Amino acid sequence: MTPAGSLDHGVATGRPAPASPHSWKRAVRSVRSFKVFAGALVVALTIYLVNGLVGVVSPDSAWGIGYGIGATALLLAALAYAVRRRTLSARTVGPSRTYLLIHLYGGTLFLVLALMHSGFAMPQAPLTGILWLLGIWVVGTGVLGVLLQKWCAAALGQLTTEVQLVRIPELVEQTRAQAEEVARTAGGVLGDLYASELAGAMRTPTFRWRSFAGFVDDQAARFEYVRAMVPPERHESLEALRRLVRAKAEMDVHFALQTMLRKWLWVHVPTAVVLAAVLGLHIFVTLYY
Ligand code: HEM
Repeated sequence: MTPAGSLDHGVATGRPAPASPHSWKRAVRSVRSFKVFAGALVVALTIYLVNGLVGVVSPDSAWGIGYGIGATALLLAALAYAVRRRTLSARTVGPSRTYLLIHLYGGTLFLVLALMHSGFAMPQAPLTGILWLLGIWVVGTGVLGVLLQKWCAAALGQLTTEVQLVRIPELVEQTRAQAEEVARTAGGVLGDLYASELAGAMRTPTFRWRSFAGFVDDQAARFEYVRAMVPPERHESLEALRRLVRAKAEMDVHFALQTMLRKWLWVHVPTAVVLAAVLGLHIFVTLYY
């Protein structure tokens, strides 16, 4: 999100964020954590290689059980983030950012160890087969979520406004009422322009896929075209209307991107809960039968 410059009816306005140079260090959330993750990945894969050379690759060998225990510990560590998010006021248990980093990197390593546990092949038994698929789904959707978050943050950073999803309907209504008042007071070409071309787009928050490509439907070309037909004494009203249409168009971009970020959680979180439950069942079945 852009830093807020001023507040206008709950829509924060600011300068577009400067473009940042592309490098892998900017792409990762924490260089130190990424290095720890990369080191752990190399260690895990080296152990697996040695295992293949000197021992048997099987889930019930000592090596395989070790990978299974490691994967379970990493899944629990990833889940600790969900607990930390619900106990944000607790200060003694460390910053929630640390839990998020453990979630992202630990969650990815979970899949690596789970795949090592199964010998990188899909298990034939139904329960372990489901567990395997759930692991891939949860981590796959997790990685997609991180990419989506980065994409949306970059797109929203280009806007001059900041607004929370829950407030968008109310703010759109306020903007529509203001725009209608400007058009009504100005009358003439502006009144006609508003009634025939703009009113429909001002009514409700609009989800557009093009918003993900940074498209802001601010009708700039239309305003330029109409400017020559509007008498000079109405130019102030024209600019006021242009700003309101732009504000609504930016709210539409927030609406599309923030809606998608919220919906994405539905493909990641419920399956993660099922994954934890099925893993618990798998451990129970393995220990008692
Ligand atoms: C062991 C596997 C994983 C489990 C069980 C799991 C579970 C969860 C749960 C329960 C949440 C919701 C947290 C909350 O808001 O209460 C969550 C959020 C999230 N997960 Fe995962 N996850 C796993 C792996 C991953 C991986 C590998 C990634 C990406 C590399 C990832 C990315 C995310 C992201 C980006 C969020 C939203 C974070 C936020 O903005 O608050 N997850 N996950």
